Amino acid sequence: MILAIETSCDDTCAAVVDHGEIRSNVISSQAASHAAFGGVVPEVASRQHLELVNPVVDAALSEAGIGLEELDAVAVTRGPGLIGALLVGISSAKALAAARRLPMVEVDHLHGHVAANFLEPDPLEPPFLCLIASGGHTLLAGVRDRGGFEVLGQTLDDAAGEALDKAARILGLGYPGGPEIQRLAASGDPHAYAFPIAMARDPGFDFSFSGLKTSLFYVARELDPDELSRSAADLAASFQAAVVGQLEAKLSRALDAGDWPAVALGGGVAANTLLRERVAALCEERSVPLKLVTPELCTDNAAMIAAAAEHLALTRHPDYLGWDAKV
Ligand code: KG4
Ligand code: ZN
Repeated sequence: MILAIETSCDDTCAAVVDHGEIRSNVISSQAASHAAFGGVVPEVASRQHLELVNPVVDAALSEAGIGLEELDAVAVTRGPGLIGALLVGISSAKALAAARRLPMVEVDHLHGHVAANFLEPDPLEPPFLCLIASGGHTLLAGVRDRGGFEVLGQTLDDAAGEALDKAARILGLGYPGGPEIQRLAASGDPHAYAFPIAMARDPGFDFSFSGLKTSLFYVARELDPDELSRSAADLAASFQAAVVGQLEAKLSRALDAGDWPAVALGGGVAANTLLRERVAALCEERSVPLKLVTPELCTDNAAMIAAAAEHLALTRHPDYLGWDAKV
C-alpha cells in the first residue's frame, strides 16, 4: 500500500494505490489562482501547495479508508518541475515517512505519466511506445519494462501543452489553454488557416512547437479585435489540428522505425479528444493495440506516481532525509 504525493506544478495531489489498484486519487487544482496571470506563477504555486498538501493527504487516506499505520511506503515526485513546488511535496512526504519509519520511493514525473498506463483496470504490459505530451514536456518514450523508459525524441523548444496554453492567451481564452482551445475548436474549421507542421521532413523523432506559436501570433496581430473574435474558433481549430498533426506524425514515424507491439499516451495533452481520435485511427490502420487512460489520469495526479513507485527501489529510513528536488 503506497501513499504518493505529487506537487511538481500547479496541482496538489495525493493518492493511495495498492498493487495497481487506485484506492484514492485526490487532486486539488490551483488553476483558478493562476488563471488571472495566464499561466502558472511559481511562487503562488509553492504557497498554495503548502496550504493544500496536508488536507489533500488527509483526504487521500480517508477516501482510501486507511490510516498511516497501514502504509508500506511513501512515494514522491522528485522532479522535474518547479523547485519550490516540488520541495513542498518532498518535505511532506519525508515527514510522513519518517514519522512511521517507512521506506520512501523517489519518482521521476515523466515516468509517472508513463506509469499511469500500469494502473488497474487493464494495465498495459511493456514493451510499448508512449507519447507523453504535457505542459512542460513532449517526448516519445520507448518503454521496455516498468522501471523506466528510453527517450526516443523530444521537443527542442516549447512543449505541446505550453503551445496550446500560449495560443489560448493570444486568443484571449482562459488558463489552462488546452481545454479552452479544444472547446472553441469544436465550432471552428481546422482547414481555415494553414499552420506549419514543424520538422515534417526532419527524419528524427524530435518535436518543435515554438514556430507554430509565433505564426499564430503573427496572424492574430493582423486582425482587429472584432475580426479576432470572429476568427477565434477557426484559429483554435486550425492551431489544435497543427499541434495534433505534429504529435501524430512523429508517433507514426516512431512506429515505422520500431517494432512496438502497443501504443500508449500520457500527459495533459493526451486528454485532448482530437489527439485521442487521431491516434486511435492511426493505431487501427496499423493493427497496433492502443491504451488510452481516462483524461483524469492523463493530467497530473499522484496515482500515476504510486504506479511508477511500485516498480522502483525503496530507500530505507533515514537514508532519504537529505533528499532534495531534482529540477
Ligand atoms: O500533465 P499536465 O497536467 O501537467 C504537466 O506535467 O505539465 O499537463 C498540463 C497541460 C496544459 O498545458 C494543458 O493546457 C494541457 O495539458 N491540457 C490539454 C487538455 N487538457 C489539459 N491540452 C489539450 N486538450 C485537453 N483536453
Ligand atoms: Zn505532468
